[in-house]
Amino acid sequence: MDYKRLIKYAMPYKGRFVFAMLSMLIYSGVAALLVYLSKIIMDGVFVSKDPVQAKKMLIELCIAMPLIYVIKGFADYGKTYFLNYVAQNAIKDLRQDLYTKLISLSHNFYVTHTSSKVMSRVTNDINALQGALLKVPPTIIRDGLIIIGMIGGLFYLHWKYAFFIVVVLPVLGIPLAQFARKLRKASKDSMVQISEIYTSLQEMLSGFTVIKSFCREKHEEKRFAVNNKDYYNVQQRIVRVDARTTPVMEVLSMTGVSIVLWFGGKDVINGAWTLGDFTAFILAVQQMYQPIKNFSQLNSTIQQAVSASERVFEILDEESKIFNLPDAKNIDVFSNDIVYKNVSFEYEQSKSILKNINIDIKKGQTVAFVGSSGSGKSTIANLLLRFYDVNSGEILVDGTNIKNLTLESLRDKIGVVSQDVFLFNDTVKYNIAYGKLDAGDEEIEKAAKAANAHKFISAMPDGYNTLIGERGMKLSGGEKQRIAIARAMLKNPPILVLDEATSALDSESEKLVQEAIETLMKNRTVILIAHRLSTVKNADQIIVIDKGTVVERGKHQELLDKNGVYAKLYNLK
Ligand SMILES: Nc1ncnc2c1ncn2[C@@H]1O[C@H](COP(=O)(O)OP(=O)(O)OP(=O)(O)O)[C@@H](O)[C@H]1O
Ligand SMILES: [Mg+2]
Repeated sequence: MDYKRLIKYAMPYKGRFVFAMLSMLIYSGVAALLVYLSKIIMDGVFVSKDPVQAKKMLIELCIAMPLIYVIKGFADYGKTYFLNYVAQNAIKDLRQDLYTKLISLSHNFYVTHTSSKVMSRVTNDINALQGALLKVPPTIIRDGLIIIGMIGGLFYLHWKYAFFIVVVLPVLGIPLAQFARKLRKASKDSMVQISEIYTSLQEMLSGFTVIKSFCREKHEEKRFAVNNKDYYNVQQRIVRVDARTTPVMEVLSMTGVSIVLWFGGKDVINGAWTLGDFTAFILAVQQMYQPIKNFSQLNSTIQQAVSASERVFEILDEESKIFNLPDAKNIDVFSNDIVYKNVSFEYEQSKSILKNINIDIKKGQTVAFVGSSGSGKSTIANLLLRFYDVNSGEILVDGTNIKNLTLESLRDKIGVVSQDVFLFNDTVKYNIAYGKLDAGDEEIEKAAKAANAHKFISAMPDGYNTLIGERGMKLSGGEKQRIAIARAMLKNPPILVLDEATSALDSESEKLVQEAIETLMKNRTVILIAHRLSTVKNADQIIVIDKGTVVERGKHQELLDKNGVYAKLYNLK
């Protein structure tokens, strides 16, 4: 893994990291001091031959102990606070970069990456990285120092027994390493399972209406229960392994300690070893449990972080397929025409969608695209917006290939009102003003009036400040569309793409929407995509698309007279 890259994110906060390390250093020192004090208590106070001296020492110890714990407390707090400061800031920056990357990527990326996978990377993987940043440094620094300190202490107290313990310790490593391996595998599975849970939850929320209308609640519950059970099983596996670690460690190490207890205890009885040294020795061994356990899990934490960071950096390394060329020009005004020249396109390799399309749209014209579902009409519009780049041929706006225009200036010239309106979970005002962020109230109202939306908006409880719910759930289909039209109105683009804007509406609301659309179309160049041939009759040019090619073109009457595909489609209705 690219550790350097991860470290790069922590670098701006290195000052606090130093504080965190200092805190850990102090903490380990205090831990050693406490073991040493236990020796003093035993030897100096309880087995002392001098009661006066012993009492004095007892008082000193009783005063010193709380003070030592104050220092220990500060060190503990400092370690937690500063380390969290570093880790959370680093992760915040990484998360922001990830979001910036995700929003900058082109549509191609999302054809192959599902939204729940992307969500899981921004949440689970980032959390795993944060967990690792919080766990790895204390294990290496604090626990490492404690282990070294305690081993040093053991040798100081009794080198032979210390040697024995140090030889026994690696035996502990055998089951621990095995547990760690199991834990690593289980954690990996757990990441997969939690993302399954996300996926089913997300699907339920977005498919809520469909589920309800088919009465598939029980069916979905069962599907979710399977995922939920799988996740539970993995969690149980983790707990079973994790819960085993401490007892096994304690039994094994206690066996070692018992041997020391046997020989050491005899030494104490014989007066060859002081009670204090003996107590401190046992205490020092116990102090090593937790650090050793942490170390045994270090590898699995790191492994998890490695795979999480690989997935995160994989996204950060993605390059948007659609970008501004270094010498891209701005298009200030649209003044002549839009030309598709021998355009061919495929979303996925060798699955040709558009074949050799030639279209000429003059400024001010309304050009209608008709054709059966899946023939490629929306795709033609998407290419103009450069959501995707053509595979061959070129699209020219005022004679310039759109690849040589800046994306911002190109997209600024085009307004889209499409079949599925997306509205943000915010106020009506916010949603309309999305077309022009600095628009004043008056402008917003004017756009709403032109879009036949003012009336229903004013009738809502908070008027323009009414919250419209997720995806505009609190609005009817026609209302949503009129807000989308107002939004486009406010943007006021010279080119307009209308993709099936009047589908799925009742006739009353369709009339209102249709009127709004006609207002919106005035003085604009319009690309009109419609199934309803009644709405395309007046177009300056009608282009019939079939399986990705232009099969007919002309005015309504010409095409009817031709008695070809268009006439057939027209007579169908
Ligand atoms: N993001 C995508 N990835 C892969 N294939 C796609 C994608 N979007 C559309 N397609 C395919 O491209 C073809 C043309 O789709 P397009 O949306 O342009 O059709 P359309 O003419 O607008 O149809 P409709 O009238 O139903 O809206 C379809 O066969 C569709 O399966
Ligand atoms: Mg379409």
